[in-house]
Amino acid sequence: MSTPSLHFNAFVWPNGYHESAWRVVPDDVRGVLGLPYYAEIARTAERGLFDAVFLADNLAIAEYRTAHLPQTQFDPVAVLSALAAVTTHIGLVGTGSTTYAKPWELARRFATLDHLSGGRAGWNIVTTITPLAAAAFGEAEHLGHADRYARAGEFVDAATAVWDSWDDDAVVGDREHGTWADRDRLRTPRFHGEYHDLEGILPFPRSPQGRPVLVQAGQSAPGMHLAARYAEMVFSGPKSLESAVDFRTRLHAQAAAAGRDPGLVPVLPALMVTLGGTEAEAKAKAKRLEDLASPEFRWQNALYTAGLDPDGFDPDAPLPAELWSGPGSVSSRAEQLFEAARANPGAPLREVALHVTGGAGQFHFAGTPEQLAAMILEWQDAGAADGFTIMGSTLPYELTAFVDHVVPILQREGRFRTEYTGATLRAHLGLPKPKAR
Ligand SMILES: Cc1cc2nc3c(=O)[nH]c(=O)nc-3n(C[C@H](O)[C@H](O)[C@H](O)COP(=O)(O)O)c2cc1C
Repeated sequence: MSTPSLHFNAFVWPNGYHESAWRVVPDDVRGVLGLPYYAEIARTAERGLFDAVFLADNLAIAEYRTAHLPQTQFDPVAVLSALAAVTTHIGLVGTGSTTYAKPWELARRFATLDHLSGGRAGWNIVTTITPLAAAAFGEAEHLGHADRYARAGEFVDAATAVWDSWDDDAVVGDREHGTWADRDRLRTPRFHGEYHDLEGILPFPRSPQGRPVLVQAGQSAPGMHLAARYAEMVFSGPKSLESAVDFRTRLHAQAAAAGRDPGLVPVLPALMVTLGGTEAEAKAKAKRLEDLASPEFRWQNALYTAGLDPDGFDPDAPLPAELWSGPGSVSSRAEQLFEAARANPGAPLREVALHVTGGAGQFHFAGTPEQLAAMILEWQDAGAADGFTIMGSTLPYELTAFVDHVVPILQREGRFRTEYTGATLRAHLGLPKPKAR
């Protein structure tokens, strides 16, 4: 059997994924607030035949971030709807929170995107790490990790019932008898769960993909459980080839145990890339970004991504032991910080934070296109990945380099498509269209 084609997803982030990106790119610093910035990235990824572009969501930002990084956290579905108009094939994946959205309204927003894009929508299911979201949404408290994941599974079931509320062939358009849609082909959802309640059909027919593609990035035990049950594309943030193989093997075993075909659960680890004509050039570019990185940002960000408010901590004191010594389910990001605190007893937070990587990925590749292509093939052959979520350290620059110099190598090796053969994100991923239940 030949090796399946790789899948690529382009992570869109202001000026690039590296925290220093905005300081090295020559563009107007406010350019990231306009549609042309997003359109150029999406069109470049589409020129490279990527499966999808991806927009993250952070529902509330800690104010320290405004000092260090461009802040452009628009509503992802609004941005992707605009991108639907300037692209034709590429998938459009946006993040939505199961802790702060309501299943019916989220189902409606993503199904709208699926209609407007002709079947290219995907939903990255997140439970939202930052507790600051609670205040923004008028909630008294941010739910704990275990509670958030318990609600998440039920949320997906509820949203699915909404997407399935019209049969695919419900619109009959019978002008003669005056029947636009056949009422008998509606399946009114009546969902009454432990956490979510809804009744009522979607206010428009079933979308081209039936259901948007379900994406998940949870790395903890409950996160992986959710992904194994529902995800049709999985993001991961492995530290090494070995940990990537381990994650994908365990996830696929869990998916099989849940009665699913693991071949329909592609895993796309997050990979930050910096490319150069020579290895030395790429390493120099990566070093310049690293040299500009701010130690102040580092400790604050380590707390924020662990779900803690940096304003409540002293960077010159150790991380309070009650945080990391107790039992209980915490996010994998928090676990990374707590592990570093345990391994460096008494060390000030500033120093502990140096052992923690801040973003979605933990891997920064710097080298030539040939070296990157070789690494990608090695990871696929080892069972570590079905493709990658490519995070250009600077954007659109590193994405453009990837499309122009890495994609052709993978195509010559017969490991990546040379044209789109379908029009929907499900088609790109080789996923079937789900029947309305
Ligand atoms: C590529 C990638 C993208 C992610 N995007 C988001 C996002 O947009 N919003 C968010 O709240 N979390 C995001 N996350 C975090 C995950 O949803 C998840 O919380 C994290 O990986 C920790 O896993 P856990 O929740 O199971 O501990 C992302 C993670 C990865 C690897």
